[in-house]
Amino acid sequence: MSELSPETIVVSAGRPSAEPDAPLNMPIVPASSFRAGGPMEYAREAAPTSLALEEALGALEGGLATVFSSGMGAANAAMDLVPMGAGVVAPSAAYTGVAVRLRELHALGRIDLRIVEADDAAAIAAACQGAHLLWLESPTNPLMQLADLPAAITAAHAAGARVLVDNTFATPILQRPLDLGADIVLHSVTKAISGHSDLLLGALVTRDEDLAHQCQVRRVLLGAAPSAFDCFLALRGMRTLAIRVERAQRNAQAICARLASHPQVDRVRYPGWGTMASIDVVGGAAAADAVCERVRVWTYATSLGGVESLLERRRRWPLESTTVPESLIRLSFGIEAEIDLWADLDAALRG
Ligand SMILES: Cc1ncc(COP(=O)(O)O)c(C=O)c1O
Repeated sequence: MSELSPETIVVSAGRPSAEPDAPLNMPIVPASSFRAGGPMEYAREAAPTSLALEEALGALEGGLATVFSSGMGAANAAMDLVPMGAGVVAPSAAYTGVAVRLRELHALGRIDLRIVEADDAAAIAAACQGAHLLWLESPTNPLMQLADLPAAITAAHAAGARVLVDNTFATPILQRPLDLGADIVLHSVTKAISGHSDLLLGALVTRDEDLAHQCQVRRVLLGAAPSAFDCFLALRGMRTLAIRVERAQRNAQAICARLASHPQVDRVRYPGWGTMASIDVVGGAAAADAVCERVRVWTYATSLGGVESLLERRRRWPLESTTVPESLIRLSFGIEAEIDLWADLDAALRG
């Protein structure tokens, strides 16, 4: 059979084998240890529920997946694969946790960090010379810059660098970086893939068997193992990923089009696709904070990718990049009715 579509993979992948009386869903198996002689042995190495989630995520991104206890757990595992002192190229406003951790590792002399703008293909190509790893997000969080992924990946490979793409914002429904030549895909499974703001999980996905093995060894040694309950919830949430993304993207497209001519909005940052956007509001940080406090249908909270629409002023976090404007509000579009989301946001903007 030819490869299935993502809409079908999210529904069908990671199920127990098709035998009479087999459950349709992989059960939660709460065990840390397994009888000797099989492939599992100990839950930091492998466990039934996380293996099912890995099978599903691997099918979805087109590679071999390793699941971690959070997106940052996966990110740290990927950073741990960089040789001592090697060059890492990363965007100026990557996700805050990633950016802060990369700066820490640079300060310790562990890596040689080179900062670029994600949408500057020439700068990326130059910075990749002699580097070990190009770390990309596209769109970036929260400036919504787009990287030219095929160009950046080609340039990095020509320079001998490996490419990691954090695909959390785009989701594998809208973008599959391994198909574009990337070596590793990172996910905060906490976000759209699980989709209900009720767990923390992360994943690394690669087509390279040796690299996949190294990712799994990092999980074992760093201890960032996922819980069976969270893996079960993530699988359950993933079943509706395609329709959630479709609906949330429709909300984002319609509302961003209306925000473009809103008198209280200086700038809409939306690439035209996806479920995330940012707006720079008129009146600076205080005005942006007031908008976040006034919403009733939207929720003022951090994170993204859930069924519920969330918003926050990103610079309220002290470690957020100073390239992010004080007046920027990040919008995570959920699946509510567009008319209600618009009315609430419009009223909050107008005060
Ligand atoms: C783009 C991106 N990557 C990685 C992470 C980290 O994931 P987690 O919060 O699951 O550790 C986040 C979290 O917000 C994110 O937005």
